[in-house]
Amino acid sequence: MDKPNTVLLSLAVIAIAAASAACSSSSKGAEVFRREKCMDCHTLKGEGGAVGPNLTRVGSKRSRDYIIQQIKDPKTHNPNTEMPSYGSRIPEQDINALADYLSGLK
Ligand code: HEC
Repeated sequence: MDKPNTVLLSLAVIAIAAASAACSSSSKGAEVFRREKCMDCHTLKGEGGAVGPNLTRVGSKRSRDYIIQQIKDPKTHNPNTEMPSYGSRIPEQDINALADYLSGLK
């Protein structure tokens, strides 16, 4: 195999790896969202409760950092919020997966 082909092949491998990493972290986020019963209060894609805002397009309104803060300690955004703090209940990597997933919903 000559050099240019090798370069193209490695680029293709990197692109596929990146795409599957993005995909698995967003499905992980969807899984955590279901597992933690966020839907008791939030509607996502037509399903869920109405205690909190509809999150179907939350990524176009809130940054990933805002979403992480909201999940860990929602009282910093609203001291009287009804949303529980998940900072000590959900492992850091699951919070990151949730934030990846939700911030991608636009
Ligand atoms: C007991 C009800 C309740 C549960 C359970 C709940 N939330 Fe919330 N959430 C709220 C409310 C109410 C708000 C509105 C913010 C406020 O209270 O000022 C909110 C706001 C948010 C926001 C910001 C939305 C925006 O438009 O600003 C995000 C993101 C969010 N919640 C994610 C989650 C996730 C992820 C979970 C599960 C781990 C969850 N929530 C569980 C009630 C809840």
